[in-house]
Amino acid sequence: MTKKSRGRILLVTGGAGFIGSNFIRYWLARHPADEILNLDKLTYAGNLDNLKDVSSDRRYSFIRGDIADREAVEEVYRRKPDVVVNFAAETHVDRSIGNPDDFIRTDVWGTYVLLEAARTQGVECFIQISTDEVYGSVEEGCSREDSPLLPRNPYSASKAGADRLAYSYHATYRLPVIITRASNNFGPNQYPEKVIPLFVTNALDDQPLPLYGDGLNVRDWLYVEDHCRAVELLIDKGVPGEVYNIGGDNPLTNRELTFRILDYLGKPRELIRHVRDREGHDRRYALDSGKLEALGWSPGRDFEKQLHRTIDWYHDNRWWWEKIKSGEFKAYYREQYGKR
Ligand code: NAD
Ligand code: DAU
Repeated sequence: MTKKSRGRILLVTGGAGFIGSNFIRYWLARHPADEILNLDKLTYAGNLDNLKDVSSDRRYSFIRGDIADREAVEEVYRRKPDVVVNFAAETHVDRSIGNPDDFIRTDVWGTYVLLEAARTQGVECFIQISTDEVYGSVEEGCSREDSPLLPRNPYSASKAGADRLAYSYHATYRLPVIITRASNNFGPNQYPEKVIPLFVTNALDDQPLPLYGDGLNVRDWLYVEDHCRAVELLIDKGVPGEVYNIGGDNPLTNRELTFRILDYLGKPRELIRHVRDREGHDRRYALDSGKLEALGWSPGRDFEKQLHRTIDWYHDNRWWWEKIKSGEFKAYYREQYGKR
């Protein structure tokens, strides 16, 4: 029996987080013969509630472990994954400004440990999930895959380090690495420190929405399922050693995004609270995704519908976010927003 006919084994790291959990659910639904190993440290952002519905699926196993721990990683590689998708990372820019340590450790060193194990064991495909933030702030036009990398905060600098380290394993050792750089994701199960779930859940509770600076920073919004579809396509059709941008083609200022959230929920604009800006706040991100589109992918075309579906999800799943907001998040929020 060939590997293909018995299905593949995917090692998904950071699968208990926002995008990783959406990816696991997406994959299990579409690839019945495949098996998924989810390696996650369960930091404050990792949440097994995100995977409740698949936890008893016999094609899915959860392993609690740190990607920066060589022994733990080698142990998982003994299960001979065919494909690795590395989502595991420290991901929140504001936290990276306060405390960069974990970002360097997980995003750079952790990626190195995963790459090194992949090189020794051999894998068919290693997807390194990078980010559009590695291009830095883009005043005009769009970043292409060959644009310079000019990260400007500890999070994006650590991701840029991992991005290039992954590439070096292709250039030097011919490891079949593919690097993705996606724009701002939104959808269900996103930790409510990020702007959309934070503003939606605050608005649902009639709490202030802390808008940074003048509110005119621009982000390009990508629905998480569109992101999962792109990664799926790249596992089969991506060219090793290549980088692929994944943009949503939905650029919005934060102010406009906030208005849309409040309007949909029927809440007053008086809930907006202008607060001190993020240090080194990147003004704008924008991607040219033509290279990925040439492989047959395109983002969903109805942003409004995707945004409303997302807002509805938080409206209908208070059990999910109320638990988070009354736990670790509470102290973080006080510390982060108390000083603004
Ligand atoms: P998230 O913060 O929701 O989840 C990160 C997950 O990684 C958590 O489950 C956490 O427990 C796990 N993790 C952290 N450190 C770990 C370690 N040392 N070992 C094992 N697991 C660890 O993040 P997300 O928003 O889902 O982002 C996933 C990936 O996508 C990240 O690599 C991020 O840089 C990238 N990305 C995110 C976005 C976005 O808008 N959210 C956009 C582009 C790229
Ligand atoms: O662009 C991709 C990146 O998107 C990912 O690589 C990161 O992991 C992810 O966190 C995200 O980074 P951002 O910094 O763009 O996302 P965040 O949700 O933190 O902020 C989005 C915008 O909203 C940004 O311009 C800052 C602003 N903002 C954010 C928060 C949390 C506010 O105005 N108020 C807030 O309270």
